[in-house]
Formats: sequence, structure tokens, C-alpha cells
Amino acid sequence: MNSFASVSLDPPLILWSIRKQSTNFQAFKSAQYFAINVMSSEQIDVSQHFSKSGEDKFSSVKVTDGKFGSPVIEGSLAVIECSTDTMFPGGDHMIVVGRVEHFETSPGEALIFSQGRYVVAQDHPAMAADPALLPRSSTNGAQKQSAELFPSLYWAFNSMSLKFESHRQELGLDIPKTRVLIQLFNNPNISDEALCGLCYLSRSATTAAVEQLLASGHVSRGQGRLLALSEAGVALRKILAVREVEYERTRVKHVPKHDLDVARGVLDAIVSGEFRVQYQK
Ligand SMILES: Cc1cc2nc3c(=O)[nH]c(=O)nc-3n(C[C@H](O)[C@H](O)[C@H](O)COP(=O)(O)O)c2cc1C
Repeated sequence: MNSFASVSLDPPLILWSIRKQSTNFQAFKSAQYFAINVMSSEQIDVSQHFSKSGEDKFSSVKVTDGKFGSPVIEGSLAVIECSTDTMFPGGDHMIVVGRVEHFETSPGEALIFSQGRYVVAQDHPAMAADPALLPRSSTNGAQKQSAELFPSLYWAFNSMSLKFESHRQELGLDIPKTRVLIQLFNNPNISDEALCGLCYLSRSATTAAVEQLLASGHVSRGQGRLLALSEAGVALRKILAVREVEYERTRVKHVPKHDLDVARGVLDAIVSGEFRVQYQK
């Protein structure tokens, strides 16, 4: 449902709207209670199922009764049970205002439908560069007061990536396309599935990036539809690599070489579990 919105905190109210022609319109019009089930990123099939017309959509989906008797779909990321508060006419839709009576959430990733496709949310890179954009608790945790190393590492990674963005843009790339380019350079002739695993991206983000790189001629499909970089793709990856080296040199130019060696040793230790610093002459 794309019409969902929060309305009020006190009392807790939400709204959504239903098409008057919907086969379920009468059911919602007379319902005393209803539940909003927030889909997790694992529930594309459920979302698809409910977006098609049909009277009894619940017969083929695993559901339990909520506290107020509304259907709770198994695997939902959050469930908001409401009593019907008010209804307003809204053109060919009816606006339903619900009072939140009970809600439950579970950890996980929400399924989002944006610009006609399923997506998952990620932090905007600007979050990493500007502490003012973060909630206070995470600013404290990630920036200064934390004794832990990993938040700083995460912070450094995001900042490093954000400040490289201008180079990506100049080369007609974005983060997903860059990851695909690098992984296909290192691992030529791999399947879409293997590529997806290497890129740390969702399947849909990887597919979109591959399609764009196929269209721009940087990637091609060979035998068995395996993916590899074209000559233009290899050339682009090499240009990117030159920029990466120069970018790193500029960013760490004030760090003494000895400290860079220690940092490299620490990064290796995070991956391997062993600390072995090799000082380079
Ligand atoms: C992403 C998405 C969001 C939707 N949001 C709404 C909505 O807010 N209200 C609505 O009435 N229909 C919405 N629809 C359309 C209904 O899902 C669809 O018309 C309905 O399931 C058709 O079946 P029915 O006639 O049995 O209700 C949405 C569809 C999609 C794909």
C-alpha cells in the first residue's frame, strides 16, 4: 500500500486509502479492526500476491489472528493493529484513519516499492560525511566517544566512498556499477548469482547495474550467459584504478609510512584474526 501515513501521536493515528472499486472495499468499510502488515525484504512474493485482485487473498498465505482478530501475515517485519477511527471520502478512494491499538516489530530489512521496483533502503552516503545528519546516539557511538574500532572503520569506509563520488560521476558510474565493474575485472566469466554475492548488493541492485553496463557496452555475456567485462569495461576499470591510487595517496599523505603499515596490519587482523605487521621499506 503506498497510501500509508502516520497522522498523530496522541492519540496514535495512522491513515491509508482504499480504492472504492476494490473487491475488498466493503470488508474494510464495515471492519471494526484491521492490521497493517509491513513486508520484510523476504516477502516480495506476498506483496505480489496482495497486489493482484481477488476476494479471498488470505486463503493461500500463512496468517495468524492478531490481538484484535485481524490477520497477521507470517514473516512480516512489523504489524500495526488498528481500530477503525474515521473514514473520509477521497475521490475514487476512501481515506481510512485507524487508531493504533497494538503493534509488534521484528529486526530486519523492510521491503520498499519505489519507482516501479522493489528496493531496500540504505544509508545515504551523506550520512557518513556529516555527523549532524545522524541521530545523537549514533553520532556518539560512531565518532568520538566509542572505544570500539569497528564504528570508526565503518565511518572511515563511508567517508572514503563519499569523497570518491565525484570520480565515479565523472566516469559515468555509481556505487553498484563500480562494484560490478571491479568484481568482473577480478572474476571474469561468472554468473549473475555469483556476481551478486561478490558485490554486497541486493539482487535487484546488481541486476540493474549489470543491465546498465550491458547497455553501455562495458559488460557482455558469453557462453552460458556468463558475465565479463568488454574491452571498454576493462579500460574503464583501469582508469578507475588509477584514480583510486591517486585518491588514496592524497588522502593519507600526512600519515607516516610506519603508521600506514600498522593500519594495514590491523585491517589484515580483522580479516584473518592474526596480527602480523610487515614494515615495508
Ligand atoms: C505498491 C502498491 C501500492 C498500492 N497501494 C494501494 C493503496 O494504498 N490503496 C489501494 O486501494 N490500492 C493500492 N494498490 C493497488 C492494490 O494492491 C490493488 O489494486 C488491489 O490489490 C486489487 O485487488 P482488489 O480489487 O481485490 O482489492 C497498490 C498496489 C501496489 C503495487
